[in-house]
Amino acid sequence: MRIALSTGGGDAPGLNAVIRAATFAARRRGWDVVGIRDGFNGLLFPDQYPEGSGVYSLDASNVRSIGHLGGTVLGSTNRGNPCHYPVTQADGTVVYEDRTAELVQRFADEHNDALITIGGDGSLSIAQRLFEEGLRVIGVPKTIDNDLDRTLVTFGFDTAVEIACESIDRLFTTAASHSRVFVVEVMGRNAGWIALYAGVASGAHVILIPEIPFTYESVARAIRRREEGGAHYTIVVVAEGAAPLHGHQEVIAKPLDHAERLGGIGHAVADELTRITGKEARTVVLGHLVRGGTPTATDRLLGSRFGAAAVRALDEGMNGVMVALNEPHVEYVSIAEAVGRLRTVPLDCDTLLAGRELGTSFGDD
Ligand code: F6P
Repeated sequence: MRIALSTGGGDAPGLNAVIRAATFAARRRGWDVVGIRDGFNGLLFPDQYPEGSGVYSLDASNVRSIGHLGGTVLGSTNRGNPCHYPVTQADGTVVYEDRTAELVQRFADEHNDALITIGGDGSLSIAQRLFEEGLRVIGVPKTIDNDLDRTLVTFGFDTAVEIACESIDRLFTTAASHSRVFVVEVMGRNAGWIALYAGVASGAHVILIPEIPFTYESVARAIRRREEGGAHYTIVVVAEGAAPLHGHQEVIAKPLDHAERLGGIGHAVADELTRITGKEARTVVLGHLVRGGTPTATDRLLGSRFGAAAVRALDEGMNGVMVALNEPHVEYVSIAEAVGRLRTVPLDCDTLLAGRELGTSFGDD
């Protein structure tokens, strides 16, 4: 048995724990393990790597002691989906090619028997396609956004919340010292999980998430209420995908081979709040900081559990499934069932209700 591991999409703390666990679990069974570099690029574009190193052997010598490291030793990419690969023509127009068959052929040429692919919705959709084309595939869900529907939680999320919370904590003292409004923009794409969890944990005064369209007047009222109560500073946490009622999401760029890049709402909120309240409002965009660096113990543990469970799935003859957390168990759900189902924050989510009980404004009252 020879298995290949690949990591795709934006990196998430805990990926190396999955790679380490899957390698150890497979090696224990006497299987060969290889890693594909940069999503599927190492397999699809071998010439781009020196001496065929786009696919390389994984064993104790190169995976030991990596569980506590952020990022992914395999490299990752969220560009160039092989099933929908953008090719720019001489006249500047772009056509999309389906390179799935080529990828499946290369996989077989390398004598791989099965693939463990670790990724978010985009990478898992590719995994599903590969499965449909005959590849033996196990998916491992990953995203800091925590927006995959069929698992209780994804690794990377806990670290992102931890870093966001610590950063917001630090802004409290400087906000209070200068009687300022601080607007902290956090990642999360179309789901508000990171903003909600970090906002409630840090005691932010306003939390704006994509699931709840906000009005600037409502946020300004929350600031005025605080002023009247003697608190001359306010912390606003805004998810990058949040948008005002009847407004639209702020987009930085729309690359050809990549999902729309969200961002900019933090500055828009600060500008508008200064205009309405007359108070100085500053913006801090946490961006990629929340997904870099050392994973929390929770994420390392979940990554290790998922990596081991993915190998167990192969050992038990499974195919086309994704590992999923359903405490206290790791279960298996079909990848087809798991992809394309965005899990956003439900309006009756207990953390959201707790925030409201504590007097947090969600910009909708
Ligand atoms: O999906 C993870 C994520 O970090 C999102 O929260 C964010 O919108 C996006 O990826 C950023 O992608 P990139 O690193 O390509 O800018």
